Amino acid sequence: MSGYTKRLAERKAELTRLYMELYSDSDSLDALLAAVSRYAQARSQELVRLDAKRLKDPHWFLGARMMGMTMYTELFNGTFSGITQKMAHLKNLGLSYLHLMPFTATPLKDNDGGFAVSDFFNADPRLGTNEDVEALADSLRKAGISLCMDFVMNHTSDEHEWAVRAKAGDEQAQAMYLCYPDRTIPDEFEKTMPEVFPETAPGNFIYSPEMGKWVLSTFYPKQWDLNYRNPAVFNAMVEAMLCWANRGVEVFRLDAVPYIWKELGTSCRNLPQVHTIVRMIRLVLEIACPAVILKGEVVMAPRELKAYFGTPEQPECHLLYGVSAMVNIWGALSSMDVRLLYSQIESMLAMGDSAVFVNYLRCHDDIGWGFDEDRERELGIDPLAHKIFQYRFYCGQFPLSYARGELYNYDPDSLDARSCGTTASLVGIEAALESKDLGALEAAVRRYAMLYSLVFALRGFPLVNSGDEVGMLNDCGYKNDPLKAADSRYVHRPRFDWAKAAAAAKHGTLEAVLTGILKMLCKTRTASPFFSADAFVTTWWSHNSRVFALRRSRGGADMLCVFSFSSEREHARFDFFTGIYEDAFTGRIVEPGRGIPLWPYETLWLTKKTE
Ligand code: GLC
Repeated sequence: MSGYTKRLAERKAELTRLYMELYSDSDSLDALLAAVSRYAQARSQELVRLDAKRLKDPHWFLGARMMGMTMYTELFNGTFSGITQKMAHLKNLGLSYLHLMPFTATPLKDNDGGFAVSDFFNADPRLGTNEDVEALADSLRKAGISLCMDFVMNHTSDEHEWAVRAKAGDEQAQAMYLCYPDRTIPDEFEKTMPEVFPETAPGNFIYSPEMGKWVLSTFYPKQWDLNYRNPAVFNAMVEAMLCWANRGVEVFRLDAVPYIWKELGTSCRNLPQVHTIVRMIRLVLEIACPAVILKGEVVMAPRELKAYFGTPEQPECHLLYGVSAMVNIWGALSSMDVRLLYSQIESMLAMGDSAVFVNYLRCHDDIGWGFDEDRERELGIDPLAHKIFQYRFYCGQFPLSYARGELYNYDPDSLDARSCGTTASLVGIEAALESKDLGALEAAVRRYAMLYSLVFALRGFPLVNSGDEVGMLNDCGYKNDPLKAADSRYVHRPRFDWAKAAAAAKHGTLEAVLTGILKMLCKTRTASPFFSADAFVTTWWSHNSRVFALRRSRGGADMLCVFSFSSEREHARFDFFTGIYEDAFTGRIVEPGRGIPLWPYETLWLTKKTE
């Protein structure tokens, strides 16, 4: 029996059951299975070898060498082959994973940074050809870097062939979307469906004058939500994934996955059918291309996250974004209070070994201030006042704030708002450079190092936003483009500055310092046994609400990772860590059980010193 036949035999019953539960349509199921078989047979020898390798090492993405980067193809170096040309830059950083923002065909303008997709099967010609993507995936694989594709599954652009046909009155095409002749059902939906972009794209429906119908559009008006009640939608999207998997994609980022199923009377988020769909996608990939894994983009309340990993018997996503950790890291930095961060990281660790998070500081999106409100109240923190403090702080509107950021989707009714800005601008590098204040610059760099040291130390693996390695600052140029001006997320999507990359190669420059920090973290992580897949990670109380700590244990030994979120000198103590420990970065010797004096924003990765 071939590997494929065996994998199919092991999974077919479950796939059939789930599919029939959702769609009760055996013809469509047959069509799906036929497509799965076609793509499985068409997989190249090299990818079949990769499948076999990954089947032997299913936790490959948990290892110490994992370090990711996320980028827009166009902003980095213009095209896919432009990335291939810059392979040395990626290798120099020690990357093992490269997430490209959406790169399939998209409208020329007003495309939500590529998240409005006009063709799921073909690359955006402005970035290159499908063959270029294949060539890139191939060179990346040879360099030990897995390609991750942003897969926009909730919607298409209104220029997608289905939308064009729908506008022309084709009913089959209209059935790919949720279209209604009048406001009756849309009004019902609006009663319970929150808005994603209350300021930039209010309401969840748009009127299509061509069709004379209302179309569900959760995000921007040019993004029409797909109707996953229609098996033709599911089949087509799965085919697109299989097609890209055969072109060399190893990880799919499931964009906005919580939103894919809509039900009247609900928030239309995180519904049980979403999980059925993700589970089916996982089964299909396991059958046809088992090397390929799923990363869910689930920007939801912390309590919703666990379900996206599925259960040990029926797993769903292999990886999720550590969104809540990211929010709490920034929250702890501005407030110099790590108590919420402790509870957040503890609840993530409590999700168990299969809950693997991709940890990051910044990505292409905003920072949405979603804290655990119950925990805030327990700690005596007023959730609304706290949120207002955070977005004002990161806009530089708060006294003593070092951050340069912008507000995103401020809602005057709820007073909700989110924050935008690059890492370098948010940690204070921009303000320090502007004021030419060396002391402030040093503090900002220490913040950068401490935050990234935490991102590298957390369970899961780190994901660096392209540009952070050279300290790219905010770019306000988007304000001059009427199609972008209302979307402040563009402030942290600057074009990569190759002059800064050149500066990073010179001794003593700011860029060299920042790149050096990331390289050092990557090297230390890769070399340390405490970062192997079987290391056990817990938090460790520091006896100081400004100092966060993690313990990584393996083989009866421990590494203690310490992070001071304070702008002042602090003292922290770690019970049960008796004896002498040495910091992996500086060689500093301390006795954690007796207490450690810490410099502002100091970070230490401590291991026991052998006498
Ligand atoms: C995701 C993306 C975001 C985009 C949205 C709609 O949340 O991260 O950038 O606007 O989906 O596709």
